[in-house]
Amino acid sequence: MMMAKCNKCLVVIIPLLLHILCLHSLGNDSFSRQPSRQLIFTAHNRSDSDPQQVHISLVGEDHMRVSWVTEEKHSESLVEYGTKKGEYSTNATGEHTSYNYFLYKSGMIHQVQIGPLRPNTTYYYRCGVSGPEFSFKTPPHKLPIEFVVVGDLGQTEWTASTLKHVDSKDYDVFLLPGDLSYADSHQPLWDSFGRLVEPYASRRPWMVTEGNHEIESFPIIHPQVFKAYNARWPMPYKESGSTSNLYYSFEVAATHVIMLGSYTHFDAHSKQYTWLQSVLAKVDRKRTPWVIALLHAPWYNTNEAHEGEGEDMRQAMEGLLYEARVDLVFAGHVHAYERFTRIYDNKADSCGPLYVTIGDGGNREGLALTFKKPPSPLSLYREPSFGHGRLRIVNETHAFWSWHRNNDTDAFIADGVWIESLRSSKACWGAHDQVAHEEL
Ligand SMILES: [Fe+2]
Repeated sequence: MMMAKCNKCLVVIIPLLLHILCLHSLGNDSFSRQPSRQLIFTAHNRSDSDPQQVHISLVGEDHMRVSWVTEEKHSESLVEYGTKKGEYSTNATGEHTSYNYFLYKSGMIHQVQIGPLRPNTTYYYRCGVSGPEFSFKTPPHKLPIEFVVVGDLGQTEWTASTLKHVDSKDYDVFLLPGDLSYADSHQPLWDSFGRLVEPYASRRPWMVTEGNHEIESFPIIHPQVFKAYNARWPMPYKESGSTSNLYYSFEVAATHVIMLGSYTHFDAHSKQYTWLQSVLAKVDRKRTPWVIALLHAPWYNTNEAHEGEGEDMRQAMEGLLYEARVDLVFAGHVHAYERFTRIYDNKADSCGPLYVTIGDGGNREGLALTFKKPPSPLSLYREPSFGHGRLRIVNETHAFWSWHRNNDTDAFIADGVWIESLRSSKACWGAHDQVAHEEL
């Protein structure tokens, strides 16, 4: 794929001004960071009718949403697919949209849902009867399953390094707890990001939730939030009873994954709160013994960067996750890696979720170098380096979490820990819950 330096391409003045304004609006950025690497702009080198920015995401138990963009306005929203190379036994049609953002007008953004699909199976597909053939593998129906978790991805040379490391070892589903493109209102960077991640996001489902860099609003002149994000990265929110693309949940291979929204209402009277209550009430630990949650601004954080920014949400929602015995909570936002013990209400608690901050995917802002001293006993490993994480859920009771630093070979695990599912911990289920738990 052709890549060119960003400074050769970014010549539009208005978006740059917006970009600067947006950076200003993101708050205090005075904390110390390791030097970032060069931003890369991934150019469009196919024809206008060819698909670009192809990515896929899970929908329900056995369907996949295929998303792509064409410059050509009359391209068909059609996906042909099958299990043999070049032979497409099935096809499906969908819909397309586009959006305006100041002077920018997006290409046609196509969304097509395909399926039912067989688990753990490779499918070959083509979008819009044009362009190259792509392929993906569906996740397994049963454990084991391996998730890759990367936050604050961006589109720098660090991003490319992270994705290369991710790609060097197989996995099933990519989870991203916010801050995708760092377009920050400069819309061509959304297109560049889509092209950069296409080789990866067209092969494995990418499930994302929003970060602050997706907001892209300005008082009075552009009050609408998440316009590009919602148009380009629709997630299966309706399937989980959510009314917003900013929070949703899904099940895959005995795992219930809850994607929360740090930048929409989360108080006890909010739709998100009510939705989370209903989702957690319906979790069946027999079908999904593992429950994990992702959100952007961390609830626990000993870095000086973004200190306290997740505190309101923690106070509002932590009790719900604790009572439901959620196993793990992943966050981004802080550009470093940090793993905590199991926690509830600022105290170590063997029945609380294990918290991980993994906002070190490759953003253009550099790393958050400064951790507070003395270290908190709740924080078990912390390091400001770029990298990615892997959660391999081996069976109903055990999973292995590992963190892979970019400047190491992929075989080297900088941090790793075995985790036992709370579902298997009798001590964490009260007398009332014990009966139901034992019935599992
Ligand atoms: Fe962020």
